[in-house]
Amino acid sequence: MIYLDYNATTPLHPKVKEKIIDFLNDYGNPSSAHETGRKVKFMVEDARESVASFLNCRPDEIIFTASGSEANNTVIKSVGRCANSLCYSSAGKSHIISTVVEHPSVLNTLKCVENQNIDVTYVKVDAFGRVSASDVEKAIRPGVTSLISTMYANNEIGVIQPIEEISAIAQKYDIPFHTDAVQAIGKVPIDLKKLNVDYMSISGHKIYAPKGIGVLYKKKGTKALCPLINGGHQEFSFRAGTENTIGIVAIGEAFKQLKIEMDEEIIRIKKLRDKLEAGLFKTIPNIKLNGHPTERLPGTLNISFKNIEGESILLRLDLFGIAVSTGSACSSGSLEPSYVVSSLGVEPEIAHSSIRFSLGRENTEEEIDQTIEKVGEVVSFLRTMSPIK
Ligand SMILES: Cc1ncc(COP(=O)(O)O)c(C=O)c1O
Repeated sequence: MIYLDYNATTPLHPKVKEKIIDFLNDYGNPSSAHETGRKVKFMVEDARESVASFLNCRPDEIIFTASGSEANNTVIKSVGRCANSLCYSSAGKSHIISTVVEHPSVLNTLKCVENQNIDVTYVKVDAFGRVSASDVEKAIRPGVTSLISTMYANNEIGVIQPIEEISAIAQKYDIPFHTDAVQAIGKVPIDLKKLNVDYMSISGHKIYAPKGIGVLYKKKGTKALCPLINGGHQEFSFRAGTENTIGIVAIGEAFKQLKIEMDEEIIRIKKLRDKLEAGLFKTIPNIKLNGHPTERLPGTLNISFKNIEGESILLRLDLFGIAVSTGSACSSGSLEPSYVVSSLGVEPEIAHSSIRFSLGRENTEEEIDQTIEKVGEVVSFLRTMSPIK
């Protein structure tokens, strides 16, 4: 099996797996005052410190959630929800600025709040998939815009947005800024002392921790959030419910490992991705890169293979034991072409023929060589069968 779908999810890091196995007998509730509880509380706080140390922020700015989706929902649904939460507009109307290429966990949450009388502006992207900071600035409604939410890097095409510029604009107008950094964490260096964001979403299963654990960074001193789940005082009262202690300990370990491995892995994975890109372009005619040539995650490559359906390529590669994706896993099953690739202004046929290769820590050069060869075979076979010429 050659796994090239790391943007969908990652296998557990061996050290994370070890940590989980070691932890399985520690069943204490971190809210309990006795030793069994205190032991687990200590481990939860150790994990929080490990996340904070990686991001260069304070441990009390880290809120554990059940997923990246939950972190996104918590921030967006806080807008205008209760008088003490995120930018409650005294004018009675709130406005959010986001982009057309966000993950469904942001886009569908925005649709939901639109039904609750909040205006949303979806800023378009250019032909490379990048948002312009000046377009974000033009969309601001002074005194009404309550939140700017822009993803750090896109899950389908890997394009990295000008987050520093957008956050500077948000700061200039004193508007809280949220970034969905689920795909960026561990793939681009992020230093929260330098990057001016108020809220940031993270997901464990994209960084070699298990599914079902996420992180919401909330900068100290920014507007409070309105919890999605009310109850006890866990997670500084922003996220009630007895903690997913296994997930928390695991994500803490994943961050420890990222700190050790990330810099070298970025270079190694980018080299493999560039080799894959060059190899495909050299051997297969009529293909097109979707996304930005350089402002892109090191392991992501999204290509359209003209005149064939991406779905057919995916299924044939799967027969050869190569796992890729036609776009976001969350929209698979839909026959619509990828909205992200379509937003680059390409024709529907091009969007329909796109394949995402996303690389990670277990990929090797040999796998890349085999993939170039197999994709070449699959594409020429499918093109001979294709009714579209
Ligand atoms: C950019 C982005 N945001 C959010 C999510 C959702 O994260 P989770 O699967 O933890 O809910 C994903 C998952 O694919 C993603 O790629």
